[in-house]
Amino acid sequence: MKVIISEYAGFCPGVKRALKKAEDVAAVGPVLTHGPLVHNTDMLAHLEAKGIKAAEDFQQGTDTVVLRSHGVGPEVADDLAAKGYNVIDGTCPYVTRIHNLVRDISRQGKHIVIIGKDDHPEVEGIKGWSESSLTVVDSIEDAEGASIPIPAAAVIQTTYNLDKLKDILKILRSRYPDLDIIDTICPTTKDRQREVAQLAAKVDLMLVIGGANSSNTRELVNICSQSGVPTHHIQNKSQLELNWFNNIQTVGIAAGASTPEWIIREVVDVVNEINNDGVETKEETSEILEQETKPIAVGDIVVGEVVQVNPDEILVDVGYKLEGLIRKDELSFRRVDDCSELVAVGDSIEAEVTKLSDDLLEMSARKVAQSKAWTKVKEAFENQTPLTAPVVEVVKGGLIVDLGLRGFMPASLVDLRFVEDLNQFVGQEVTILVIELERRRNKVIVSRKAYLLKELEEKKSETLANLEEGSVVKGIVRRLTNFGAFVDIGGIDGLIHISELAHNRVEHPSEVLSENQEVDVYVLKVDPEEERVSLSLKETLPDPWTQIGKEFKAGDVVEGKVVRLADFGAFVELIPGVDGLVHVSQISEEHVEKPGDVLSVGEDVKVKILDIDTQAKRVSLSIREATRTPRKPAKEEKSQEQGSIGVTIGERLGNLFDQSDE
Ligand code: F3S
Repeated sequence: MKVIISEYAGFCPGVKRALKKAEDVAAVGPVLTHGPLVHNTDMLAHLEAKGIKAAEDFQQGTDTVVLRSHGVGPEVADDLAAKGYNVIDGTCPYVTRIHNLVRDISRQGKHIVIIGKDDHPEVEGIKGWSESSLTVVDSIEDAEGASIPIPAAAVIQTTYNLDKLKDILKILRSRYPDLDIIDTICPTTKDRQREVAQLAAKVDLMLVIGGANSSNTRELVNICSQSGVPTHHIQNKSQLELNWFNNIQTVGIAAGASTPEWIIREVVDVVNEINNDGVETKEETSEILEQETKPIAVGDIVVGEVVQVNPDEILVDVGYKLEGLIRKDELSFRRVDDCSELVAVGDSIEAEVTKLSDDLLEMSARKVAQSKAWTKVKEAFENQTPLTAPVVEVVKGGLIVDLGLRGFMPASLVDLRFVEDLNQFVGQEVTILVIELERRRNKVIVSRKAYLLKELEEKKSETLANLEEGSVVKGIVRRLTNFGAFVDIGGIDGLIHISELAHNRVEHPSEVLSENQEVDVYVLKVDPEEERVSLSLKETLPDPWTQIGKEFKAGDVVEGKVVRLADFGAFVELIPGVDGLVHVSQISEEHVEKPGDVLSVGEDVKVKILDIDTQAKRVSLSIREATRTPRKPAKEEKSQEQGSIGVTIGERLGNLFDQSDE
């Protein structure tokens, strides 16, 4: 009988990492774990003997609590800390990645879909990170019956069964084509399931070792059973039955991610004892077990936690026997003096394994970020959708934008107007359109100007469609010219002609408005075809003819300014917007040939209002009348007449004229 042990049997990197954290702390004192670290009763007993005890109920205490690789919602860790516990995060970096995704996506207001077992601790933890509504899908029926509000994004439990996932995704994709599905299956799980399926296809009997509650072990059992081979799920050697091995030529042994090596070894030993012909020797089997399982290989994408940051490189714990090294150049395309400008200890980081030997694990985060970014940037380029990214550097001729890869923005494409100092953009988030893309040469050209123009066009169309003649809208004065003022009323500049700026005559728009001033403007005319809008400021101001009718009456003597001279008379401004006419005959007692002979523009004069016609918008004035001695009240006049000596005939006649004129 031949025994073949699965290459991936035993602890996965995530479980190994959580166990190591617990064991490190247990070396100095007792440790509690938030739930069992592994789904294996034998292993839990073993841990307890080392001072690592699983607990479910936490009241108050100062013990150290290690969170298991499944992770928890943020409220759980906060609660433990608030109760006084010293919390150590043993969450697998692949799970942490899901937490971060769910938190960030839900903050964008998107609905979250979790494909996984609703009551699985990992799924319970993921739920806690969502800040929006969510749906859990765990079957074809769930997928068919789910009501998912779009926009939404789906994440997948790291250890989910790949075949089942395929069926669920098929339904979700056909029902919700816009559902954003993010592959969060753990690569170790994928490899383990794939390899176990291959192993099951070539043996006569499969033994799968793992805890009864271990969901990833049950998935392995399902995979093996589906291949048709007799499969037994055992927790340890004590559950092996002799009769299973009758007429069996080849036995396959697989184990779940939380099965310790010594349990696998014990099972293999017993199987070897049953085995008596054509088998691998015990030594051979042991050799296989001695080999480190190969959770990673060159080309694998791994997620790990940054454990050390040096100026020129960082070290990352990916759950492998060696810490992964990422050199500064492989951390990002960005040129920095010190890696600490880009990452900090405790950050989660995704990287590709580039070199692997007995004593070196080298990785590149830049490669992963770039290849992910290419997909996103290509999509944005093809659909001309905007992207938001920080400006990281000023270079000759433009700016560098961090899109996960290097995006170059020529200086001429930074803004709608010329930008003198590009440094003001460094550190700012900018929204851009990708206008040129060449993968072969790693060339990405982006334009903020193109985005601003596009936005302006959209705003302009919207403004034109909603603008009503006769309405008053808000605007900002953009430009003053000799013939008027251009006012931005939302993506489009309307013109206030100089004649529409005020009720009075305006020589230049700057007398009334200044650039960047906010104004209310009246919409006179909209021409959507020509994209032209005529505006008026005058229409929003009080009508001076109403004012003059209220404040002045015929007979009043007032001050005014000569604003215009004609052959037939002079125009005198009474209030802005109302000019009255002093007929040439009303300028002086003397004969005046031409108004210009005695008056000049700009001169202040005293005028008497002869008549106000607000309907016809006409005011008649007289300087001659205003400069005469005003008529005294009748009584006073009489007493003066009685006691007066030396009053001239001219003065008397003047009074008489006054009376006759009135
Ligand atoms: Fe293990 Fe983490 Fe994958 S706990 S199975 S390495 S998600």
